[in-house]
Amino acid sequence: MVTHRIALIPGDGIGQEVTPAARHVLDTVGARHGVHFTYDEFDWSCARYHETGAMMPADGLEQIRQHDAIFLGAVGDPSVPDHVSLWGLLIPIRRGFRQYVNLRPVKVFEGLPSPVRTALPGQVDLVVVRENVEGEYGEVGGRLHRGFPEEMAVQEAVFTRAGVTRIAEYAFTLADNRRGVLTSATKSNGIVHTMPFWDEIVAEVATSHPDVTWRAEHIDALAAKLVLDPTRFDVIVGSNLFGDILSDLTAAVAGGIGIAPAANLNPEREFPSMFEPVHGSAPDIAGRGIANPLGAIWTAALLLDHLGHAEAAAEVEHAIAACLAKSPVRTPDLGGTANTVEFTKAVLEFA
Ligand code: NAD
Ligand code: IPM
Ligand code: MN
Repeated sequence: MVTHRIALIPGDGIGQEVTPAARHVLDTVGARHGVHFTYDEFDWSCARYHETGAMMPADGLEQIRQHDAIFLGAVGDPSVPDHVSLWGLLIPIRRGFRQYVNLRPVKVFEGLPSPVRTALPGQVDLVVVRENVEGEYGEVGGRLHRGFPEEMAVQEAVFTRAGVTRIAEYAFTLADNRRGVLTSATKSNGIVHTMPFWDEIVAEVATSHPDVTWRAEHIDALAAKLVLDPTRFDVIVGSNLFGDILSDLTAAVAGGIGIAPAANLNPEREFPSMFEPVHGSAPDIAGRGIANPLGAIWTAALLLDHLGHAEAAAEVEHAIAACLAKSPVRTPDLGGTANTVEFTKAVLEFA
C-alpha cells in the first residue's frame, strides 16, 4: 500500500462541487490498486479574500510544497476582480512551483457527439501542450496609463530561450511517444515580434526528434482547421495565451469544456504538480449542484498517472468512456438532467 498526500484546494463556484467527485474517484479506484490518498484541504478562495484580504496566506506555497500533488477546483468569483483572484492564487502556484507544462488532452468519446460533423468518436485524440509560466502572461511592464485622453494599457510578452526550449522539448518527446505528429501554434506572419523567435527555437528542438513530423501553423488558420478537420492533430504546442484559447476550443470540439482535464506539470519534480479541470468556477451555474464532474474526474486520472499509477489512471479514463457510451446519465450541459453526484456515481459504476 502506498500513501500520497494531496493538497486539496476546492476554490470557488463549481470548484467546490467538482472537487468531491475527483476525490471520490481517487479513493475508489486508488483503493483497488493499493493506493491510499490523504487530503489536506485549504480554504483558499474569494470567500477567504473577503474575510482576510488575501486569496491565500503569505506562506501558502510553503504549506503545500511537501505534498505529492495539488488538486484545485477553480478560482474566481464575480465579487472579486479576476486579476486579483488569479494573481493571488492560481498564477503564484503555477509559477512558484515551475509548472511550465500545462497538459490538456482532448478526445471525442462514443456517446458524446462533437458539434463538428467530421469528428467521429475515436478519431479525435489530441493533446494541447501549453507553455504555462511566461509568454503573453509576462509580468514585465504590465501598466495602465490613465488620466489622459490617450490612456492605455501596456504589457510585455516574455519568451525566453530556456522557456521555449523546454516546452518544445516536452512536446516533441510527447509526440515521439504518441503518433509522431506535432503542430506548433505561431503568428510569425504578423507583427508579433516574439513569434519568429518561438519558431526558431521550435525548429532547433525539432532537429533532435527526427521521427516527428511537424509544422508551424498560424494560430488564426489553426483555429479554423481545428474546427474543419480536428482528426489530423496529435500534439499541439502553443504559447501561454494561444494554448489557453486552443484548449477551450478543442474541448468544445470534443463536446464541451465541462469534460476537459489539465495537468500543470513541473517535469523535473522539484515541486508538486497541480491538477485542475480546464474550466473555471462557472458562476452562472454555481451552487445548483449540476456542474459536469467529468473534467475533474479525468483530471484525477492525470494525477494518478503522474504519481506512477498508470493502470489506475487508465481505469478512470475507461470508466468515463464506458459511461458515456453505455449510460444515458448526463449533466444539463451535455443535454441531461442528472446532477453532479448522480453523474459521478454513474461513472464509478463503470470503474
Ligand atoms: P468557465 O469555464 O467558468 O465557464 C464558461 C461556461 O462553461 C459557463 O457557461 C459555464 O457554466 C460552463 N461550464 C464550465 N465548466 C462547466 C462544468 N464543469 N459543467 C457545466 N458547465 C460548465 O469560464 P468563465 O466564465 O470565463 O470564467 C468564470 C470564472 O472562472 C472567472 O472568474 C474566471 O477567471 C475563472 N476561471 C478560473 C479558472 C481556473 O481556476 N483554472 C479557469 C478558467 C476561468
Ligand atoms: C485556464 C484559465 C486561466 C489561464 C485564467 C483563469 C487565468 O483560463 O487555466 O485555462 O488563462 O491560465
Ligand atoms: Mn483557460
